[in-house]
Amino acid sequence: MYRESLVNLIRQECGNPMFGVEVGVHRGATSAILLRTFPQLVLAMVDLWGEWKDVTPHTLEEQKQFRQQAMASTNFAESRRWIIGEDSAEAASVLLGGWWCPQTHKWDFVFIDADHSYEACRRDLGAWLPVVKTLFCGHDYGKPEFGVTQAVDEFCEEQGMKVNVTEGHIWWVRK
Ligand SMILES: C[S@@+](CC[C@H](N)C(=O)[O-])C[C@H]1O[C@@H](n2cnc3c(N)ncnc32)[C@H](O)[C@@H]1O
Repeated sequence: MYRESLVNLIRQECGNPMFGVEVGVHRGATSAILLRTFPQLVLAMVDLWGEWKDVTPHTLEEQKQFRQQAMASTNFAESRRWIIGEDSAEAASVLLGGWWCPQTHKWDFVFIDADHSYEACRRDLGAWLPVVKTLFCGHDYGKPEFGVTQAVDEFCEEQGMKVNVTEGHIWWVRK
């Protein structure tokens, strides 16, 4: 459901995007849909696939398997995916540096779906805003068990940006 909403939102705001980022990839189900739907898309897939404080914690061995699944599910678009197995904020600074592909200094969209705690979400928002050209969005807005809503509302108010919400608990901002 949220994946369909995300695809519709990206189409609405970016048309046929050339460069996008998913922060928090897990098994790669969303990455695969994005790469299939947008045939020109180069997708940066960011996930530490390591230790973090999830509500349902996974072992390092499980995280390793999730990374392999993410790779397997996007192998059909091997030349268009860029797997970045690093912490979110570090990955943002790598992309901002533009060393990999200088023309992508700004990415058409960034979808944030990593650590949903308030502190981590605030950190992700600050790290990724400078990377985005058009659509800044994320998952699990409006769910009381997460800190996403408070982090997004506070951050966007400070930045003078209007928060929009669409089906599937997706928040988004047009930059
Ligand atoms: C909710 S899952 C992502 C789901 C995925 N977006 C999807 O639609 O299928 C959250 C992921 O964020 C990753 N994660 C948590 N903290 C992170 C961090 N600081 N940096 C990068 N990835 C992180 C976890 O390893 C986990 O795979």
